[in-house]
Amino acid sequence: MACPWQNVHVAVLGCGKESPSAYLPNLAADDRLGFMGTAILQGLLNKTRQDDSPSIRYTTWVRSQTSSERLEHTLGDDWKRVRCVAGGDAVQAVVPADIVILGFPPGALQSVFATPGLVGALRRKLIISLLAGVSYSQLQAAMSGTGSPDLSLLRVIPSIGAKINDSVTLIAETAATTHQHRQVAVWMFDQLGQTQWLPESIMDEATATGAACNALTMVAVDAIVDASVAEGIPRPAALKLAAASLRSAAGLLLDGGMTPESLKESMSVPKGITINSVLDLERGHVRSAISDAVRHAIQYTRDM
Ligand SMILES: NC(=O)c1ccc[n+]([C@@H]2O[C@H](COP(=O)([O-])OP(=O)(O)OC[C@H]3O[C@@H](n4cnc5c(N)ncnc54)[C@H](OP(=O)(O)O)[C@@H]3O)[C@@H](O)[C@H]2O)c1
Repeated sequence: MACPWQNVHVAVLGCGKESPSAYLPNLAADDRLGFMGTAILQGLLNKTRQDDSPSIRYTTWVRSQTSSERLEHTLGDDWKRVRCVAGGDAVQAVVPADIVILGFPPGALQSVFATPGLVGALRRKLIISLLAGVSYSQLQAAMSGTGSPDLSLLRVIPSIGAKINDSVTLIAETAATTHQHRQVAVWMFDQLGQTQWLPESIMDEATATGAACNALTMVAVDAIVDASVAEGIPRPAALKLAAASLRSAAGLLLDGGMTPESLKESMSVPKGITINSVLDLERGHVRSAISDAVRHAIQYTRDM
């Protein structure tokens, strides 16, 4: 789908830090990396180099010069395509934008929206909240406290795959967006990977399922690689094999019309390696460990 607008100005609030440890080895332990705003910015910058792309201007708001320098380092040559408001307040970044992405931590919502003039500056713009666990009504309450009811608001949960245009993005269905804003959002998140629209009522549960899948992938790949290395396969080869096998299986489930059952059946020849691995995993209670982890993740989200 084409972008319904020829000129778009995107502002990202909360975009400061990504992978600084490579060049700041003495980074304080609590100086955590800020991924999501940067990942979205990187994915959009990647996809909008071609001449036929709509003309997109980018503004980011970070709180310090240090964050600005880190972002410059992360974006490399693309830095010159971005205007960065470092320090000061977010209003300067919001005023010229058509789309404003909220990429700061959920706990910062009240303090950011207490900034004088910010809510007024957001009127008639498309506001995209990435804040995990913050409902549409909580967002609206935080913003309408300063008296601005006509806000066009979407709740979106991307994954950090956005930086390589391979995000799994959840978008909540709400009535709080105009038709045109919705079309722009569809275009924008299509640039960043796959999108799935869901009712807002299950957004937190779906976010938790995605997070548990990421946890499972990390643990499973780590264990596969360690075991393979222990049996003589070089680590880089084992890592590539594990990651590519997961991608291939996922592709068959997503685009190949297969289900977990048909995948198991087609890979399980009599006396085969795969069916023996499945039985070993069952002996280790892996199925119940995974389903417990997913249910706990969902419960954890509900209790937040
Ligand atoms: N990480 C994920 O996988 C993921 C997935 C889905 C959704 N999300 C959501 O996306 C948002 C960003 O996630 P993240 O992991 O990138 O978060 P983060 O690293 O904790 O924070 C992102 C940026 O927000 C700024 N920030 C921190 N505290 C702030 C405050 N009190 N006021 C204003 N700005 C502040 C920082 O930028 P400065 O450098 O300017 O200080 C930081 O780089 C969150 O709301 C999260 O729920 C994240």
